[in-house]
Amino acid sequence: MIPRIYIPADSGALALGAEKVAKAIEKELKERGVEAKIVRNGSRGAYFLEPMVEVATAEGRVAYGPVKPSDVKSLFDSGFLKGGHHKRWLGAPDKIPFFAKQTRLTFARCGIIDPLSLDSYKSHGGLNGLQNAVAMAPADIVKQVTESGLRGRGGAGFPTGIKWKTVLDTAGAQKYIVCNADEGDSATFADRMIMEGDPFVLIEGMAIAGIATGATKGFVYIRSEYPHAVATMNKAVAIARKAGVLGVNVLGSPNAFDMEIRVGAGAYVCGEETSLLNSLEGKRGVVRAKPPLPAIQGLFGKPTVINNVISLASVPIIMDKGAAYYKDFGMGRSRGTIPIQIAGNVKHGGLFETAFGLTLGEIVDDIGGGTASGRPVKAVQVGGPLGAYFPRALFDTPFDYEEFAKRDGLIGHAGITVFDDSADMLKQARFAMEFCAIESCGKCTPCRIGSTRGVEVLDKVAAGIEAEKNLALVTDLCNTMKFGSLCALGGFTPYPVMSSITHFPEDFKPAPARVAAE
Ligand SMILES: Cc1cc2nc3c(=O)[nH]c(=O)nc-3n(C[C@H](O)[C@H](O)[C@H](O)COP(=O)(O)O)c2cc1C
Ligand code: SF4
Repeated sequence: MIPRIYIPADSGALALGAEKVAKAIEKELKERGVEAKIVRNGSRGAYFLEPMVEVATAEGRVAYGPVKPSDVKSLFDSGFLKGGHHKRWLGAPDKIPFFAKQTRLTFARCGIIDPLSLDSYKSHGGLNGLQNAVAMAPADIVKQVTESGLRGRGGAGFPTGIKWKTVLDTAGAQKYIVCNADEGDSATFADRMIMEGDPFVLIEGMAIAGIATGATKGFVYIRSEYPHAVATMNKAVAIARKAGVLGVNVLGSPNAFDMEIRVGAGAYVCGEETSLLNSLEGKRGVVRAKPPLPAIQGLFGKPTVINNVISLASVPIIMDKGAAYYKDFGMGRSRGTIPIQIAGNVKHGGLFETAFGLTLGEIVDDIGGGTASGRPVKAVQVGGPLGAYFPRALFDTPFDYEEFAKRDGLIGHAGITVFDDSADMLKQARFAMEFCAIESCGKCTPCRIGSTRGVEVLDKVAAGIEAEKNLALVTDLCNTMKFGSLCALGGFTPYPVMSSITHFPEDFKPAPARVAAE
């Protein structure tokens, strides 16, 4: 049997040198006259081990990482094609603690299969969900998704089945499925990883959504910063179409569903669903007032399901294994699994899929291994740029939508950014206001004007100008933004600002005192 070598072509792995490693391995094979098949897989998500190269041996896969081009010669000398020992040897990937501790449902195939091999996808359980769905009545599919407890993974955590039911129940000659792949939150890369590493699972999820709601056309809106994801998705759609997974008769059934990939132009607010719809229609990415809900009047005024990549990519396993199977994972009203993305100043950064319920401390300290700098963890921002900063005192918070909300935080798209004790939380609060000022679509006053005023007032606090009075003004401003903004960009910016003030008051002391304290 010709040996198989797996080298990720995932953007994160490429950024860490995977292409150079692939070239070095190709060269070495040629020079040694050895035949081997190189598979460019996605990443399994342990970025601290990337580029992670795997070889398929008679005993299963053996991983090596992080591999540098300069390691390649010695890897061959050590017999790595047969799993031989080497300083980069990691053993069976499934036994590496970072992977062994995970529950992989949505990401079950990511980093394992050839992303563009439909046969490989099928041999790892792919298309089972769609196969079941085409034999079911739309209302029964919606019921199954509702009963699974799946909630939107894009940020708001809205029940997916309820959204689908609204679209199913709304009459319309044309309905759409729109996949939100704008993924603008800091520390997030789950959408990108699945699109690059297992694109058919998203296509399958979208086809199921179409059949469930009567939508025959889908769009994936991908941010322009993701050229590899765009290329992979385009290729995967063409393959799926040719194989009859998409088209007028999905898997030979009477159901029609097809889809297109669209690329955004780069604006954080275009991840907000109504702004995204405007952008897809070729208009300026400005937020629309709700009602009407997109489910009633969405893309081109037609009933539209708009879901995050991970929400849609989680549907195939639900339709394959059943609602009860999926619902069995998790806690409270947060059911199933969530791909937590661990980033920032952290030792073991990467994607960790697990059932809801781990505590923040377990995620940061045990899985993330603490800071990369080796200094104590000071704060953790959960949920992207609009998420709250949690101090160590809140590390007992379980990863659950309601538990985070109770502590004035949010899970968002499950991105976690870790900061060590050198972080200045006043600067972070200012950054939140500045980010909002730059990214605001400008439609409503509290966000458009409030964010700029917020930066000015925080600058006064930093300069020690009437600090107490100005901090009270920031609090007042945050309340106005929270309750008066049209969308969550202006409405949630107060979370990082107020959590910084509440949990790290020492960082907001007037400048002379701060200097004296340092
Ligand atoms: C400013 C802003 C940016 C957003 N960015 C994204 C994004 O990049 N991806 C995403 O899926 N949802 C994003 N959302 C949430 C979407 O508006 C929407 O809730 C989501 O696409 C619905 O899908 P879900 O129910 O599957 O989560 C954003 C919301 C706001 C207010
Ligand atoms: S809150 Fe900001 S981004 Fe949202 S609609 Fe208002 S101005 Fe636009």
